[in-house]
Amino acid sequence: MKLFLDSANIEEIEKAYSLGIIDGVTTNPSLIKKAYNEHKKSKGKKKFSMEEYIIQILSIAKGTPVSLEVTKTGYDDMVEEGISLYQRFNPVANNAVIKIPVNTSLTGKTKTSDGIRAIKTLSQNKIPVNCTLVFTPEQALMAAKAGAIMVSPFVGRVDDYIRTQHGIGFEKSDYFPQEGIIKSGAHVQDNGIVSGVDLIKQIVAIFKNYGLKTQVLAASIRNQRQLREVAVAGAHIATMPFEVLQQALNHAKTIEGMKTFTDDVISEYAKLATKRK
Ligand code: E4P
Repeated sequence: MKLFLDSANIEEIEKAYSLGIIDGVTTNPSLIKKAYNEHKKSKGKKKFSMEEYIIQILSIAKGTPVSLEVTKTGYDDMVEEGISLYQRFNPVANNAVIKIPVNTSLTGKTKTSDGIRAIKTLSQNKIPVNCTLVFTPEQALMAAKAGAIMVSPFVGRVDDYIRTQHGIGFEKSDYFPQEGIIKSGAHVQDNGIVSGVDLIKQIVAIFKNYGLKTQVLAASIRNQRQLREVAVAGAHIATMPFEVLQQALNHAKTIEGMKTFTDDVISEYAKLATKRK
């Protein structure tokens, strides 16, 4: 399974890549806004233009894909922006992927098919597309048919939506059971989806049924347990914030064991490690 970092923060990306296990980066306009505003305010560091900033990200992630999202919402504009972003940034490290929302409507009435049409055109032009803002298996299926190399179902936001719709309070990082929850005798759900992890399971099953090569990129991962569950569900990739990566390395018994092992080191044994020439 591939692990991506969901961040546009250069320091975080560097730290995550220093682990040696990161397979890619996902960004979106909100992540870029947060990271670039922090960058502009940071003291004592060289300031990058937005273009230089993106080049930094692509360079750190060299050898692994970096998703860059379009900002426009119409078919022609997205195709033009996708081609221009790809032509400008792919030569940096040969790792740019263009992120296109599955549906760019702001009202649910217009532009509903522009995302899928843009994915099709960009894919036909050999531009790799990550289809974003996926909340149903049907959206994922259509994006795969349009040629997206990855689809990004938003696991955490599905859980947020289900809880909000059913008046269940929560904090952003709260765990929500993959099997969903029962309220007043029935599953709380979003049109047959009982949790974000359930959405991943359904998409993985559909892609397997039809031998679709598109990778399922579980996005909006909010905690360690969700990472585990999407891995078990068969997601090809999970993208997560740096905190979740760190959380995933922790366990109380690992810390307790480390304390004991460190206390129990005898000098004769410790000296072996210093003998190497
Ligand atoms: C996906 O690529 C998105 O950038 C991201 O995972 C959204 O996560 P959030 O719901 O925690 O904002």
